[in-house]
Amino acid sequence: MNNYFKKLKIGYLLPFSVLVYFIFSPDTLFAASVDAGEKLVDKKCVPCHRFSGEAKSRFTLKAPDLMWGGNKYKISWLTDFLQGKEKLLYLKNYRWDQTRKPKKHLVLSKDDAQSIAKYFTKSLIDPRVKKEALDLSRFTQMEGTLGEQIFKEHSCGACHQINDGEKLVGGQQSTSFVNAGKRYNVDWVYRFNSHPPDFAPHSGEFVADVSQEGLRFVTGYIMTLGVDDFKFYEPWEDIFFKSARADRGKQIYKEYCSQCHGATGKGDGPAASDLKPNPAIHANMALNKEPEDYLYNVVYYGGKAVGKSPYMPYWGLTLKPQGVADVIAYMKKTFKGPSLEVKSEQAANGSSQPGLCPQLRKTSQAPGDIHKLKNPLEPSKRNIKKGKLYFTQKAKPLACKHCHGLKGDGKGSKSFNMVPPPRNFTCAATMKDITDGQMFWIIKNGSPNTEMQAYNTTKDKSIWQMILYIRQLAQ
Ligand code: HEC
Ligand code: HEC
Ligand code: HEC
Ligand code: HEC
Repeated sequence: MNNYFKKLKIGYLLPFSVLVYFIFSPDTLFAASVDAGEKLVDKKCVPCHRFSGEAKSRFTLKAPDLMWGGNKYKISWLTDFLQGKEKLLYLKNYRWDQTRKPKKHLVLSKDDAQSIAKYFTKSLIDPRVKKEALDLSRFTQMEGTLGEQIFKEHSCGACHQINDGEKLVGGQQSTSFVNAGKRYNVDWVYRFNSHPPDFAPHSGEFVADVSQEGLRFVTGYIMTLGVDDFKFYEPWEDIFFKSARADRGKQIYKEYCSQCHGATGKGDGPAASDLKPNPAIHANMALNKEPEDYLYNVVYYGGKAVGKSPYMPYWGLTLKPQGVADVIAYMKKTFKGPSLEVKSEQAANGSSQPGLCPQLRKTSQAPGDIHKLKNPLEPSKRNIKKGKLYFTQKAKPLACKHCHGLKGDGKGSKSFNMVPPPRNFTCAATMKDITDGQMFWIIKNGSPNTEMQAYNTTKDKSIWQMILYIRQLAQ
């Protein structure tokens, strides 16, 4: 009887489970929901959006085209948008020429939104969009900064609103880029930016005069917007950097760097004498103590990117990351600080010792009314904390601590042999003569002919917060 029962069970269960598998297997479930998505789209979306055909002027459409919807959006954003959980993107209405107020978008249930999202990813694929044309996992913070500059210099903000950290800025004619990194797939944005009229012709769109590399930077920048935990690539942490070879770097130094920096790093290459400022004298620098990220950035992206002379070219495209890593390995092995002679000369006039108190100070004075400025911000805990964050980490191109020291004592890793040395902010005797306005002026404009560079892209508010932080170091 037992056996009979077993047979009976298996006899029934086998076809039944095949059927169950067929109905509920991931593939069939997916296909079922793609079909449901397609039906929903036909019924609910087609009256306004187009899902096939050539790109057309916005002035002839009712709503943005969606034939590339599967390439364009992140699924998470799309499902949220369709459930009414996202803000509208066209603040002046998609068809502003028809002067209607923007209306709330159609809202769907979670299930329907998910079915439609699946239909999008399966069926609305634009073959012009190449996968992985831009590898975001290799996008560096410096590239983000350069992309932001391009965004500003090429008027992108004139038509696309962004959140600059404190407020919403820019024009509202076209789609908002607030939280754009959470909405778009990078490949689509990159393809769009390569030639906007391929997607939105005769729509008020704009073709920018930007190089291939610049296009990568500005696209990557857009993809960081709203993504607070964006993970920037740090080449100096990568394996190729760790296994760099000084012998290859030596050859590179000869072929590319010695024309300015000289065969032995004495700053006496054939191009050097005509350049002001002069190429750095590597032989007098302790490059072995320079932070790796700083060296990488100055060699890969050039002097201008880190606030130094544009006469120091950007070498990234010529040497590639490996070449840059190799030449850094060579420099770190070779340039370990000035000869004894140079050291004693500087020691004799007391000029190079970091951290003295009081400190010899020859900094020129800020113009009258600026010199008298008082810090407009309260020394609240929050402001001081923000100031500290900038001072120790966020200030671009180079955090202040690298020169002024983590504690503000003027003994940062780069302070070694700097003439004049960085200001020692913990020294009350020196700091009592320096007004808020004076500090603001020097941070904004730099101190000419010294290593104190201009932080002219840093926001005023951040500068005042740093000054609050600096002030309380000497108490
Ligand atoms: C009554 C017309 C109308 C209907 C129906 C409609 N939409 Fe829209 N849709 C719009 C308008 C207008 C916008 C631009 C809104 C804005 O400012 O963000 C838009 C925006 C969108 C966007 C963002 C476009 C972008 O990239 O800027 C998506 C995605 C979208 N709709 C999908 C759908 C789907 C899917 C359906 C059907 C379930 C649908 N819409 C139904 C009018 C409509
Ligand atoms: C003069 C106004 C203007 C300027 C300047 C401008 N754009 Fe646009 N942009 C548009 C218009 C119009 C569209 C098409 C939007 C539409 O029809 O839905 C667009 C669309 C886009 C889109 C696609 C957005 C989407 O969701 O469909 C991207 C990406 C974009 N622009 C990037 C840029 C970048 C990068 C810059 C600066 C180099 C820039 N734009 C400068 C007007 C402008
Ligand atoms: C065309 C001339 C030129 C060439 C070629 C050149 N540099 Fe420079 N370099 C400069 C100048 C000028 C500066 C000084 C910038 C300043 O002080 O504003 C500099 C500064 C530097 C610095 C010091 C940055 C600092 O913190 O003071 C490093 C490191 C450096 N260059 C590395 C290199 C390497 C590596 C190469 C070869 C791959 C190279 N340079 C090729 C002109 C050049
Ligand atoms: C590359 C090294 C370096 C970096 C990075 C640097 N400084 Fe300086 N800083 C100096 C040097 C050198 C001086 C002395 C200049 C002088 O004597 O005129 C100085 C002077 C100053 C002074 C004194 C001005 C005066 O009138 O005495 C202030 C304030 C200051 N820095 C603030 C900052 C802040 C804030 C940052 C970061 C946003 C920063 N510095 C980053 C090297 C640096």
